[in-house]
Amino acid sequence: MKVKKAVIPAAGFGTRLLPYTKAQPKEMVCIYNKPSIQHVVEEAVNAGIEDILIIISRNKNSIEDHFDSVPELEKALKDKGKDDYLKEVQEISNLGNMHFIRQKEAKGLGHAIGMAEAFVGDEPFAILLPDDIMYSEVPVIGQLMKAYDEHGKSVLGVQPVEREAIRKYGIAGGKSLSDKDISVEVMVEKPEPEEAPSNLGILGRYVLTPSVFKYIKETKPGKGGEIQLTDAIEQQIHNEGVIAHSFDGIRYDIGNRLGYMIANLDYALRDEEVKGDLLEYIRTLNL
Ligand code: G1P
Repeated sequence: MKVKKAVIPAAGFGTRLLPYTKAQPKEMVCIYNKPSIQHVVEEAVNAGIEDILIIISRNKNSIEDHFDSVPELEKALKDKGKDDYLKEVQEISNLGNMHFIRQKEAKGLGHAIGMAEAFVGDEPFAILLPDDIMYSEVPVIGQLMKAYDEHGKSVLGVQPVEREAIRKYGIAGGKSLSDKDISVEVMVEKPEPEEAPSNLGILGRYVLTPSVFKYIKETKPGKGGEIQLTDAIEQQIHNEGVIAHSFDGIRYDIGNRLGYMIANLDYALRDEEVKGDLLEYIRTLNL
């Protein structure tokens, strides 16, 4: 069955970006020229996803507004002949069918995904975590969808992470099937490096079969007292098998200050209009 739906959980506090996130959703931080969540929605749409559910919480209405149309603004841009801006503004509100629901309490990623059951139904679906921004030729979620088509099993997007970073991620270990795919035998949420089954971090992209909803309901609070998605997917390993796919692309963790700065710099340096002047400015810093 083709993957046509995606879920983007965007209900977290954004603690690592305080005080910015005190009243602003962290998903609306600007990565060079657009809110981070727009980068993620575009990745999904470019991979052929048709319906997107964003799970929000209190104080996150600006995410909904961003994907809505704004007739007054469009009229003003049209009247002033600002066609480039008009096109960009209209494109955002035509990025696929956007759906929104609210997670009322912060009970963890697994719990948030569990709220998508009615939207997803009995189909495989994609998950994109908006703290992870991907820069790649082929959309990363599209690479995972292709792996799902090949294997017919849940697929986790992985890349090797530094030893000291292992405790920040879900880590997957297993048997190699090809140079990109492994059959997952064990997954652990944020292990200590010495207890990790490998150095392959699950970096915010998944294609899951719908049985995960049953396992989420059975999952008890785990790491940090939260219902962990990793623990629910663990149950799929024993019952139907799970694949970890090493994706091609650069991944930015924009949920912290350094990752956010690096993403902004890299995206700006990819814009020919700005690149030259920006490099010249950096040279004046005499680092
Ligand atoms: C979540 C997941 C973790 C995954 C990570 C990727 O953790 O629980 O398994 O590796 O996202 O960014 P969080 O960063 O939300 O604590």
